[in-house]
Amino acid sequence: MRLFYDIIADKRDNIALSDEDISYFLESYLTGQLNDYQMSAMLMAIYFNSLNERELKTWTSKMLYSGKVLDFTDIDGFVVDKHSTGGVGDKISIPLAPLLAELGFFVPMISGRGLGPTGGTLDKLESIPGFRVNINVEKFHRLVREVGFSMIGQTSEIAPLDKRLYALRDVTATIESIPMIAASIMSKKLAEGISGLMLDLKVGKGAFMKTYERGKKLAQTMQMIGQQFNTHVDVLFTNMDEPLGYAVGNSLEIMESLDVMQGRHVPQVSELTVTMAATLMKTFGMVESLDEGRRKAEAALKSGKVYEKFRTLAELQGGDPHSLDDRSLLPLSNKKVEVRSEYDGFVAEVDALSFGKALIQLGGGRLRQEDSIDPGVGFIINKKVGDRVSRGETLYTIYYGSTAKLETAKEYLDDAVRISGSKVPRIELVLGVL
Ligand code: URA
Repeated sequence: MRLFYDIIADKRDNIALSDEDISYFLESYLTGQLNDYQMSAMLMAIYFNSLNERELKTWTSKMLYSGKVLDFTDIDGFVVDKHSTGGVGDKISIPLAPLLAELGFFVPMISGRGLGPTGGTLDKLESIPGFRVNINVEKFHRLVREVGFSMIGQTSEIAPLDKRLYALRDVTATIESIPMIAASIMSKKLAEGISGLMLDLKVGKGAFMKTYERGKKLAQTMQMIGQQFNTHVDVLFTNMDEPLGYAVGNSLEIMESLDVMQGRHVPQVSELTVTMAATLMKTFGMVESLDEGRRKAEAALKSGKVYEKFRTLAELQGGDPHSLDDRSLLPLSNKKVEVRSEYDGFVAEVDALSFGKALIQLGGGRLRQEDSIDPGVGFIINKKVGDRVSRGETLYTIYYGSTAKLETAKEYLDDAVRISGSKVPRIELVLGVL
C-alpha cells in the first residue's frame, strides 16, 4: 500500500487519486490508522484542488457504505425525501413529509438540528411535547412502511464517516468545499434508500449559499452524484433574503406548519410545499403536469388527511396529539412585544440573516452543537416585503423569555426592516429549477 504522505501529496499537486487510494485512505481513517492531522491535510488539498467525477463517486460511496443503508426495494411505491440547504423560517419539511405520504410516496426523512442563523427540523419537531426524534432505525423503517413517513435525527448508524469528516471540516476551515458538501449531504440521503430527492437550494442573505452561481454548482454536483447512484435529484432554487412565511422560531413554526397541513393558505409556505410535492409527482409520472400535481397536493391539504397523517406519526413518535389539536398546549412565551413602523411606505427589506441571528440571542437557535433551545421564543413577521405599511403599524412581534435576551436580540434587528417611500415588488420565491 502507498504511504498516506504520498496520497496527500498527489492531491496537493492536483493529481487525481485512484479509487484504490481513496478507499484505502478513508478505510484507514475509520479504523484509526490514519490521523486527524493527515485527514485535515487531505481535506485542505481537496478544498483547493477538488475531486473529479470518478473520485467523488468513490468518496461518496465510502461515506455511504460506512454505515447502514436502508432497503425499501420491496415497497410498492416511490421512496423519496427532501433536503433544504437551510434557511430562516424554513419549515417546509414538516408539512411536506406527511403531504407526500398522503399522495402515495414513502418518506424516510432524516433531518438535522439548527446551527447558526438557520433553523433545524428536529428542533421544531421537539417543540411538540413528547415528540422523539431519536427512535432506532428499525422503528423508523417500520413507521415509513406503515404510516408512509417518519422524521428522525441523524443516527450514528447512518454514514458515520460523514459525521467524523464533518466535525473535522468544521474546525479546519474546509466546510465550504462544494464536492465535500455534496458528498456529505448525498451520502446521508442515499443511505435512506431513496430513489428521488427534492433539493431546496436556498440562495440569499439568510442562506448558506449567498449567490445563485455557487448554489447552482452545488446543485449540479448533487445531481451528478444522484445519477451515479440511480437517484433522481430535482432542484428548486429559492430566495432566502427574507424569512420564509411569517413564523420564525421553533414552536411558532410548528403552528404555521399546522396551518398548512390543515388546508389554510399560508403565502410562501403553502406555495413551496405544494410546488415541491407537484415536482416529485411529475418526476415519478404520477401526474402529467405540474399543474395537475399542484391541484392534487392542494386537495390533499384541504381534505384534512395530511394533518391526520402528521398527528398519527407524531403520536407514534411519542408526541402529544392534543397539543396539535389545541395549540395553547404548545410552548409559547407569554411575553411579547410589537415593533412598529416609524414611517408610512412599503416594506423594502426584511433581512433574514438578522432575524436568524436575533433568534439565537433570544435562545431559539444555537451557536454551538451543544447549546439548548427555548422552543417558545421567536418572531411573527407581520409585514413582508412589498406590503404597504402605515406609521404605527406592527412590523413584527417578538416572543421572548427574558428582558436581557430581548435587549440583545433587538440590537440585531435595528436595521433588519427597511421601509421605502415608493412601491416595492414582492420577493420572487422560486428563482429557478434544475
Ligand atoms: N450539510 C451537510 O450535511 N454537510 C455539509 O457539508 C454541509 C451542510
